[in-house]
Parts: sequence; C-alpha cells; structure tokens
Amino acid sequence: MVGRDRELARVMLLLDDALAGGGRLVLCTGEAGIGKTRLAEEAAASAAARGVPVAWARAADRDSLPPYGL
Ligand SMILES: Nc1ncnc2c1ncn2[C@@H]1O[C@H](COP(=O)(O)OP(=O)(O)O)[C@@H](O)[C@H]1O
Ligand SMILES: [Mg+2]
Repeated sequence: MVGRDRELARVMLLLDDALAGGGRLVLCTGEAGIGKTRLAEEAAASAAARGVPVAWARAADRDSLPPYGL
C-alpha cells in the first residue's frame, strides 16, 4: 500500500464516529484502477483488526439495476 495515509486515517476517524453511535456513509469514487477497492480493503482490514464486523456486497454495472439498488 503506497500512500493513501490521509484517506485511510480519515476513514478510520469516521469508523470511530460510527463506533460511538453516529452512523456514517463513505463514498469512494474515481476512475477505474485508481485504488478504490484497495482502499476499501485496507479500511476493512483495519476495522476487522479492531473487532468490527465487515460485510461486502457488489453491484453489477448494468442498466437494469435501479439507482442505489445495492
Ligand atoms: N495505494 C496503493 N498502493 C499500491 N497498490 C495499489 C494502491 N491502490 C491500488 N493499488 C493496486 O492497483 C490496482 C488497482 O486498484 P483497485 O483498488 O482495484 O482500483 P479500483 O477499485 O479503483 O478500480 C490493484 O492491483 C491494487 O492493488
Ligand atoms: Mg474496484
């Protein structure tokens, strides 16, 4: 994992908020290959290391899916 310290730290702060009872939603956007999934994987690993349950879901890039169908 090269760089992304700032982004990962920010997500971890939001995780702290969530653990304190304040729900949070993080949207990670960008071009294909820029590192969105990797960042999510790193964040998930850090969360899991703290005992936080992690769930994954995937949506297909198809016209038939409703907006926010996931
Ligand atoms: N910060 C990073 N340091 C090292 N490798 C990275 C980093 N971000 C992404 N990668 C690698 O680059 C490739 C594409 O990243 P990925 O997370 O799949 O992109 P995206 O989900 O945005 O399409 C993967 O092989 C991933 O492991
Ligand atoms: Mg991806």
